[in-house]
Formats: sequence, C-alpha cells, structure tokens
Amino acid sequence: KAYAEELARKGFAIVLISRSQEKLDDVSKAIASKCGVETKTIQADFSAVDIYSKIEGGLTGLEIGVLVNNVGISYPYPEFFLSVPNLDTFIDTLVNINITSVCQVTPACLAVFRKKGAILNISSASGMYPVPLLTVYSASKVIAFVDFFSRGLQAEYKNKGIIIQSVLPFFVATKLSKIRRATLDKPSPERYVASQLNTVGLQTQTNGYLPHAIMSHWLSTITTPSVLIICYFR
Ligand SMILES: NC(=O)c1ccc[n+]([C@@H]2O[C@H](COP(=O)([O-])OP(=O)(O)OC[C@H]3O[C@@H](n4cnc5c(N)ncnc54)[C@H](OP(=O)(O)O)[C@@H]3O)[C@@H](O)[C@H]2O)c1
Repeated sequence: KAYAEELARKGFAIVLISRSQEKLDDVSKAIASKCGVETKTIQADFSAVDIYSKIEGGLTGLEIGVLVNNVGISYPYPEFFLSVPNLDTFIDTLVNINITSVCQVTPACLAVFRKKGAILNISSASGMYPVPLLTVYSASKVIAFVDFFSRGLQAEYKNKGIIIQSVLPFFVATKLSKIRRATLDKPSPERYVASQLNTVGLQTQTNGYLPHAIMSHWLSTITTPSVLIICYFR
C-alpha cells in the first residue's frame, strides 16, 4: 500500500493486485482521489497457482513502468519447524506467495513493460542470515534466490533499459511484522518506501533505508552469534 501511494504521488497510474476486493476498492479509491491518477485492481490470491492468466489478462493493454513484487507472508509467531501449525499446507502457501509469485508475475509484467522501467523484488534481511524459529520464511527470502533471480534478469535486460533491484529490509512496522509503533530502526512503511525508492537506479541490491544499511554492514562485518540474530528477529 505504501509503495502504491508513494508511486501515485509521483504521478504513476497504479494497478493493485491483492486478495481482498473490498480492501483493493478502498485503497484504489483513496489513491485515485488523493493523487488524481488512474487506478485499476486485480483480485488474486497468491496462495493459489492458477491466478497468473487472470493477472496477465488484467494487464493486457497497459504499459507497465514499475513492478513491485511485494506480496509476502511470514509465520503467525516464531516457532520450531515441526511445531508450525498445519506445516504441510503452510509450506505450500508460503512458497507460492513468497517465491512463485516473483517468478510468475515478472513475466506477466515484462510482456507489457515500457521501454524503460524498474522491477523491485522485495526480499528481506532475514534472507541474509539463517533465522531459527522463522526457518521457512527466512529460507523463502534467502538472498541467493531473489538476488540471483534479480541479477540474472538484470543481465538479460541490461540493454533494454530495465532496472531490476533486490530489496532487503530489516523490520518495518506493518501487519506482517506485528510491530505497531514505528521507531528509527523499525520505520513506518511510508518512511521506508520513500527512502527505498531513492535507491532505485543506484543500487541493484539494497537494504533501502540508512539505519538498515548500517545494521546490515554491522552484521556482515562481525561474526554475529546466532542467538543475537534470533533475539533481533524475534
Ligand atoms: N514488515 C517487515 O518487517 C518486513 C521485513 C522484511 C521484508 N518484508 C517483506 O516485505 C513484503 C511486504 O510485507 P509487509 O510487511 O508490508 O506485509 P503486510 O503488511 O502483511 O502486507 C502484505 C500484503 O500482501 C497481501 N497478501 C498477503 N497474502 C496474500 C495472498 N495470499 N494473496 C494476495 N495478497 C496477499 C496482503 O493483503 P491483506 O491485507 O489482504 O492481508 C498485504 O496487502 C513481504 O514480501 C515481506 O516478506 C517485510
């Protein structure tokens, strides 16, 4: 939502894709009236895999300039692997939402991409280190996947004017992180997105926000005991 609002403020027409038509209608109306841009919605539940022809159909005739591959879920609460509720279904759902969506929405959008544009693949700093008790989430965000996907595509598209960026935030105060009050190191989504968008075209891989970049630098230059990482991500 914060990405859609910030891009609309910059004058982009917006296509919102998410699972609840009611929420899509509310956000799309608010953006259209506040920013005076065209909006369109496509209802799709990314836990399923038969949604991509609908998305492709919804994008037909548009010219896409920026794709933000943002959809993602995490654990309801940190838990030991075998004690995650409904583990089998949870794994399928998480893989479909966090991984398959990136691979499938990207070609649907590339088919209608402008000559110049950007694809932002939202990963997570939890993909930079193994995070016990969020093991499947951390593995689904593993930097190698998004980063190799983004860098491979960047090489394929480098002469076509398309920037592909992998984005690795630490905590942002959203529904997913269950953090209610924003702080300097856990910014509001609006603050994070405004900062992150300033890195497009400058960094192919980014933490997107200065305090997060400092934390990433610190974690990668010292040998951090895994207990510290567990404490931070909890
Ligand atoms: N927040 C953090 O601390 C943090 C840190 C690092 C990385 N990230 C990554 O940032 C991205 C955005 O996360 P967020 O924190 O903004 O989460 P969020 O507030 O929960 O937003 C996620 C969005 O995805 C939608 N969504 C969830 N499941 C869906 C499904 N099955 N089908 C369609 N749409 C679905 C949600 O719709 P509903 O409103 O209907 O649920 C919501 O619009 C994720 O990829 C996450 O892994 C977040």
